[in-house]
Amino acid sequence: MGGVTEAGAMENAEELFRVAVIGSGNWGSVAAKLIASNTVKQSMFHDEVRMWVFEETLPNGRKLSETINQENENVKYLPGIKLGSNVVADPDLLNSVKEVNMLVFVTPHQFVEGICKRLVGNIRPDAEAISLIKGMEVKTEGPCMISKLISEMLSVNCCVLMGANIANEIAVEKFSEATIGYRQDKEAAQRWARLFSTPYFLVSAVPDVEGVELCGTLKNVVAIAAGLVDGLDMGNNTKAAIMRIGLREMKAFSKLLFSSVKDSTFFESCGVADLITTCLGGRNRRVAEAFARSGGKRSFDELETELLQGQKLQGVSTAKEVYEVLRNRGWQSLFPLFTTVHEISIGLLPPTAIVEYSEHARNLNLLQGAVQLH
Ligand SMILES: NC(=O)c1ccc[n+]([C@@H]2O[C@H](COP(=O)([O-])OP(=O)(O)OC[C@H]3O[C@@H](n4cnc5c(N)ncnc54)[C@H](O)[C@@H]3O)[C@@H](O)[C@H]2O)c1
Repeated sequence: MGGVTEAGAMENAEELFRVAVIGSGNWGSVAAKLIASNTVKQSMFHDEVRMWVFEETLPNGRKLSETINQENENVKYLPGIKLGSNVVADPDLLNSVKEVNMLVFVTPHQFVEGICKRLVGNIRPDAEAISLIKGMEVKTEGPCMISKLISEMLSVNCCVLMGANIANEIAVEKFSEATIGYRQDKEAAQRWARLFSTPYFLVSAVPDVEGVELCGTLKNVVAIAAGLVDGLDMGNNTKAAIMRIGLREMKAFSKLLFSSVKDSTFFESCGVADLITTCLGGRNRRVAEAFARSGGKRSFDELETELLQGQKLQGVSTAKEVYEVLRNRGWQSLFPLFTTVHEISIGLLPPTAIVEYSEHARNLNLLQGAVQLH
């Protein structure tokens, strides 16, 4: 801003885009770090990045939000990483979005509806949103993607950002890519890309919100299957087969739900790349491996609590949501992998059922036919 008058600077300051990150878990904290590194460098953004924190008391009796502000580090969800001095943790949701016109949603998906209810009437009318959240809501009238939920509840345009993005790797600035999905507003998508892109985090944008979001959501179900295969010590061929079948079901399911979904989206970072990274690393795979090693005797809930220290598993709840859609539409036999993952996770089938595929071969061919209809 060097060289401008004070009055001019104030005028400019009013035009700057202000960002809030709603959520402060593992990915939420990394998102805040990425964004904060850009807002200080790019003059179109206000430096400060507010991060809404679902308040918790730490074992030492201190509040999480206070600790984040004092140490510039999310000691619970992203220990050891400095977020940037322009990140301000705020436990007050409504205060965190005050004057903000770029809202970044990054909480576990089960909390979004409640958060949006509290935000209705309390955000700027010109606000834009982006969702980094993987998952969907299943309502009586059918499935509702999280971006649509945000967009409808808050009357805002909502893009999505998904990709092969295991948070802890991006936190230490290892190179990766991500995909933004947008509907019509290319300019908004480009602004989001500027907010997130760094030399180690390459962001591209495609006009396919549903395709990008469904990739990010459904791959967590496949990751559960991959973890089961690991827990059964089935080896790499089996895991590759599960990933391929999973990708085929992801594509078929997405295209049956939304005929606008593009094949090319599955080749973006949000598609095949995210599927690979989640099936190789990632918490869903890890917990599912432990589940299979216990012979299905320990519940996913119990293992989530034991292994994830407050982080949330998404794959099991997404498998349930997908299953509800399949059951409502009579599509179960067309999606044997998705169906089996859910039935294993609720104890209806043993973990070994994940590889009992030969009897489903006929249905898989039917699925191919169903997809070709679109
Ligand atoms: N972690 C990753 O590597 C990664 C990568 C890409 C996308 N994502 C997605 O990002 C989203 C957020 O995941 P994360 O890793 O940041 O979170 P997380 O699982 O690490 O942490 C859980 C978060 O939920 C909060 N929380 C707990 N109870 C709550 C409540 N009642 N209301 C609101 N918040 C509550 C906790 O405070 C914490 O911030 C998910 O949809 C996830 O799939 C995660």
